[in-house]
This record gives sequence, structure tokens and C-alpha cells, in this order.
Amino acid sequence: MSLRLRAGLITTAVIGAGAVILTQGAAFAASPASPASPASRAPNSHHSPAPASSLRALASQVGLRIGTAIDTDALATQSDYRSIAATQFSTVTPENVMKWDAVEPTQGTYNWAPADQLVAFAQQNGQLVRGHTLVWHNQLPAWLTAAAPSMSPDQLRAILKKHIVDEATHFRGKIWQWDVVNEAFNDDGTLRDSIWLQKLGPGYIADAFRWAHQADPKALLFYNDYNIEFTGPKSDAAYALARDLKAQGVPIDGVGFQTHLDTQYPLPDLQNNLQRFSDLGLKVAETEVDVRTTLPVTAVEQNAQVGGYTSTLQACLAVRSCISYTVWGFGDAYSWVPATFPGEGAAAIYDENLQPKPEYTALQQTLALAAGAPGRADPRR
Ligand code: XIL
Repeated sequence: MSLRLRAGLITTAVIGAGAVILTQGAAFAASPASPASPASRAPNSHHSPAPASSLRALASQVGLRIGTAIDTDALATQSDYRSIAATQFSTVTPENVMKWDAVEPTQGTYNWAPADQLVAFAQQNGQLVRGHTLVWHNQLPAWLTAAAPSMSPDQLRAILKKHIVDEATHFRGKIWQWDVVNEAFNDDGTLRDSIWLQKLGPGYIADAFRWAHQADPKALLFYNDYNIEFTGPKSDAAYALARDLKAQGVPIDGVGFQTHLDTQYPLPDLQNNLQRFSDLGLKVAETEVDVRTTLPVTAVEQNAQVGGYTSTLQACLAVRSCISYTVWGFGDAYSWVPATFPGEGAAAIYDENLQPKPEYTALQQTLALAAGAPGRADPRR
């Protein structure tokens, strides 16, 4: 996978230096759903009050959900991780535990427990869940990748349908947004040559949305991809897909823009891009935001990272149908970046010791400014 499309230096947006009073405003009132049964609780979960200066409290003032990907191992074992997850965010995404290899490691034998624990944590903390992801070319179970090449299209189609229906049914009523199809396009806008395209043809995408909708009619169903933040062939292809699915009456509700940025490359024109998808009558979301850089981080690079977080959040705030802004993990110690992009890291908003970085403060100030701006104080999402 190559996320490195863009050459040149990132354009650094400088955040306002004026002091922002972050303690004003109503404290976020957590409204947990009915408690899960004790057996399904994550260990030592508790209701943590979210201070008025938390990201979730500030975001709630402008009707925006602010989210994070969750490493369920860290959630189960580290109280400081759990506390930040509970108090700073109003939606969570399982980083790995709802992926096909995690939920069905052996054909026909489901392992829902880690994902169920995360859903219970979210409910206890008044958070919504982004389900991630039903159809992807990565993190498929070994039994499936081994068997798929010799399967008939009908066999593979039946297996995909069963997977989508079983998973969406298991979590029915508990998922706010599902990433139904993830990363179906190449950077040049052609459809990715996955087992799904090879055996089932491009119609697998519409089928996936229909099957997911049958299983969980209330979940918002999203197409999700990376690099579609940038204008260009990939974004145009996702736009055409979304437009055509809508025109055909396929139950798609939104498009997720992963937004994995790198300080080596320019910032995307995200607001205009979000807006054109929104103009199709779709919701949009930033689903996996992080801003990586080469290590060690210099002051110039960190300033660019701050600019990346600030401008991507501003873009979401500027587009009425942008319903959530989710970071792909909140701590540098848990980020996928160092293992995926050798020599790069420091992409998250908290440091290796879970101390907030200037990137965190940038999000906090951007939300506080939006909450104080005329016309923004009214929650409308
Ligand atoms: C990544 C996880 O963060 C890693 O822990 C895992 O090893 C690989 O997948 N796009 C996506 C996410 O949609 O699911 C990916 O998550 C990151 C890129």
C-alpha cells in the first residue's frame, strides 16, 4: 500500500495564538445507554466525568462527535489509556477487533468477545461506535485467502454475504456508522484488483451495502478510503461511486475520509472535497486522522503536524454534514505508523507517555473557537 502520493512540502497552517478560555461552557453530560451485563464489561471500566475542556465536551457544543481508534489490548490493561479514551472522545472505532480475521479466525467459529467488550465500554461512557470494517482486501482470515482462488464466484459471494449479515446482525442496534466497504480504489481511480473484484465484479460494492442494510437498517452505512481527501482521480472515482450508488437507490449514507497525512506532502483541499460529497446528500466523516513525520521530529515538522490537525478539523467544522472527526489512535506509543512507514512516527495527539502534545491543544482550541463563533453554538448534527 502506498500512501505517498504527494510530493513537496506541507503547507503549514498557523493556529491562532490568542488565549482561549477553555473552562467556560457547560460540562459534557454523559448519557450512557443502559448498562451492559456485568459479564460483558471491560475490566475496571468506570464512568469518568469529562471536563468542560475535554475534546468531547467542546465538540458536543457544536454538535460534532470526536472519536478515536481503540487498541483493545491497551484498553483492557492500562488505566491511563482507558481514562483518556473515556473522557476525551464521544465515539470509538475498533482499530482491529471487528476486522474479518479477528472475528472469524476459523471458518464458522466467531470470536466477538474483544469487540463486544469495546461496545460495552462505549455504552458505559455514552459513546457511539464506528464499526470498521465489513469488506476489505486486508486482514482477511488465512482460511479465506487460501481458499478464495479456487472458489466459484457463487461460493465466494455466499461467503461474503454471510460474513456481512452475521457481523452486522451481531452488532445490530449498537453501531452508529459502519465502514461497509474499505479502500476499494487504487490511487489512479481504477477499482482495486482484490479477490472481491476479481471474482464478483464491481457489483460487490452495491451488494455489500444492501446486505448490511438488511441486517442493521438503522446503522449509517459508509464507504471509507484514504487519499480521497485530495482532489484527483481517486477522489473523483469515490465521488462517482457514491453518486451512482445513490442514484440506484443503494443504501449508502456517507463517505469516510481516512485522512492519514504526512508532513512531507501538501495538505489536501479537504473542505471543498467534503462539500461536494455532502452536496450529493451524503454525510461525511474524517475517520482515521493522523499526521506522521520523519523522526526525530523537528520544531518545523511539529508545527506542520499542528497545522494538519487544525486544518482537517476546521474542514469538518465548516461542512454541515461532517458528523464525526476521528483520530487513528490517540497515543504515539500505540500508533500504526512506525510499523507501517519505517522512519516515521509521532503522528498522534498524545506522546509516548500519554501526555497531550501541541496537536491535542490545537484540536481543543479549534473546537473552542468554533463553539464561540456565531452560528456554531447551536448543535445541529
Ligand atoms: C491498521 C491498524 O492500525 C494496524 O494496527 C493494523 O496492523 C493494520 O491496519 N486504513 C484502515 C485501517 O482502514 O484499518 C488500518 O488500520 C490503517 C489504514
